[in-house]
Amino acid sequence: MKPFNRRRFLATTLRAMTLAPFLGVRPALAEDTFRPLRTVAVEHGLSFGFAIDPAQLDTNPIYRDFVARQAGIVVPENALKWAQVHPAPDRYTFAPVDRIVAFAQANHQRMRGHTLCWHRALPDWVTHTVTPANAKEVLTQHIAAVVGRYRGKIASWDVVNEAIQLDDGQAGGLRDAFWHRMLGPGYIDLAYDAAHRADPDASLCYNDYGLESDSPAGTRKRAAVLALLRTMKQRGVPVHALGVQSHLRAADPHSFGPGLATFLRQVHDLGLSVYITELDVDDSHVTGDLHQRDAIVAGTYKRYLDLVLGTGTVSTVLTWGVWDTVHRTGATPSMGPSAQRALVFAPQGVIKPASWVVEHSLAWRAS
Ligand code: G3I
Repeated sequence: MKPFNRRRFLATTLRAMTLAPFLGVRPALAEDTFRPLRTVAVEHGLSFGFAIDPAQLDTNPIYRDFVARQAGIVVPENALKWAQVHPAPDRYTFAPVDRIVAFAQANHQRMRGHTLCWHRALPDWVTHTVTPANAKEVLTQHIAAVVGRYRGKIASWDVVNEAIQLDDGQAGGLRDAFWHRMLGPGYIDLAYDAAHRADPDASLCYNDYGLESDSPAGTRKRAAVLALLRTMKQRGVPVHALGVQSHLRAADPHSFGPGLATFLRQVHDLGLSVYITELDVDDSHVTGDLHQRDAIVAGTYKRYLDLVLGTGTVSTVLTWGVWDTVHRTGATPSMGPSAQRALVFAPQGVIKPASWVVEHSLAWRAS
């Protein structure tokens, strides 16, 4: 028999209070029967993991143990963005990423890189000193340095992030982004070619949001992304996967729809893998107590995962964070309350209804 452990006893009791109303089972049984999502995913040909924060890994042993137990793949939420990793022309801040790489290797986890070429998270030195004349050199050198350092260690990269914005009125629906202004539409091929040269074995991903909804805007964005990927493939650009960010809104019938399944099959037919890269469920607009929020958020996870995993095109699912904190997700309106229960686990890794439904969806996905 295990010796009495006060921390374990408290954690179990906390889980009991969280779970009992939903599950109608003895809490100790619930805790003991919850299998790590990384294990469940692998058994069904999938990877499951989280976007993580190196500062939490360094300072919070509960976080560290939990990420090790639950995640088969990790991605730094911010540490590889240009402003963080390359804050001055001649200075790279690799140490936090190196620590994640070491952690992932020690725990037999794969790792993704996010992101090499984005219109946001650019440091001032880039926006102030890059010109059309030197942009190609600056962009390709950045990609060569970052991807090259992690060659063979980071298995897949979000090379270009969020390049489509139809409202900007550019040809091909391209965003009026910094790199587009400097280099024209050719910046995209340039970025993928540079990443491929730096690590020929890495899976190179195009990552975007707003693809989930069957709304007119969502449908138009899917068409633009599909056209972008198709023409890239035709030009022989090394693009291997689409990342569907998946910042959802709880119980919102317009958040995603069945047209997404058709779109994912079309992407797959181009020869691309599909990753769900930044999954979370904004509950900022949900009223009711914690239990009601959790039930609504869980229902949204279930419907979404059953839809996308049911296509048989998805290889990987990552949530954008490890456990709930009060924060703004990618789908939280800029004004108003923050999300509270957007992730798959409650604070400190406590199991909540979304944890169970995600386990169920991963285990029952169509093969
Ligand atoms: O690094 C500074 C830190 O030094 C300072 O103390 C702190 C004070 O506020 O700010 C820190 O930077 C913030 C950074 O997050 C790290 O916490 C930035 O201000 C803040 O803008 C940044 O927000 C991130 C945002 O992308 C912009 O890079 C979010 O955490 C991150 O979740 C979000 O992630 C994006 C994906 O990359 C792309 N898809 C949408 C998704 C959600 O918005």
